[in-house]
Amino acid sequence: MARTALVTGGSRGIGAAISKALKADGYNVAATYAGNDEAAASFTEETGIKTYKWNVGDYAESKAGIEKVEAEVGPIDVVVANAGITRDAPFHKMTPEQWQQVIDTNLTGVFNTVHPVWPGMRERKFGRVIVISSVNGQKGQFAQVNYAATKAGDIGIVRSLAQEGARAGITANAVCPGYIATEMVMAVPEKVREAIISQIPAGRLGEPEEIARCVAFLASDDAQFINGSTISANGAQFFG
Ligand code: CAA
Repeated sequence: MARTALVTGGSRGIGAAISKALKADGYNVAATYAGNDEAAASFTEETGIKTYKWNVGDYAESKAGIEKVEAEVGPIDVVVANAGITRDAPFHKMTPEQWQQVIDTNLTGVFNTVHPVWPGMRERKFGRVIVISSVNGQKGQFAQVNYAATKAGDIGIVRSLAQEGARAGITANAVCPGYIATEMVMAVPEKVREAIISQIPAGRLGEPEEIARCVAFLASDDAQFINGSTISANGAQFFG
């Protein structure tokens, strides 16, 4: 029987590529989104992948949303915690709101996404938890104290979950993308972006599909012994 995968932030950017790659591999896929109804509707129309709207930063919403997905699509075997935002500012200008918004979505959002599916994975003795971290969680980044803290936190989360889930057939791993050609990176001022690209030995941004293929591999049966790892996909920008 086909496995079910949930991808948060799965209708745009890296998440959309992950949703499509998992669908192509035969999973029943559900994708969540936070606010962009139009993008979600056209994504569903284009791919046939169902989309669900909730705020990953809210535990009650996440739990209720996940219950709905499990009733409509199936018990979740693969969860990809991908939803993430940036609120970049040099530290001396960063506001408590910018700090909190990023913590709520990127870090608490991982807890809120994985915690409700964990008991089912333990019962069924199979699960894949894949968290989308970032090169900036590995190396830090100017103007991203908030974002880097959450992305470094992802690595702590999967290393801990890996130890708790291993005997129940559950793996938990992180993928650390470098700078990928998505709206998030395109929002960086052009001059700053060009300077960043000049520091990437590959000489280019990555493609969302290059991250999606890492996720599809980690979700597969072949990856059963890979647990608590981070896969870096950053064009040799950093060795984390
Ligand atoms: N290293 C050193 N200095 C830097 C710098 C860097 N990487 N980036 C900017 N600066 C400098 C600027 O040159 C400027 O210096 P001067 O004052 O001497 O001119 C100073 O820092 C900051 O200038 P501002 O006060 O004008 O900054 P600002 O309040 O307008 O903020 C910014 C600008 C938000 C920092 C903007 O430069 C920016 O967005 N930078 C990119 C940050 C980044 O890489 N974010 C990643 C987004 S993509 C992502 O997160 C996905 C992923 O996982 C990889």
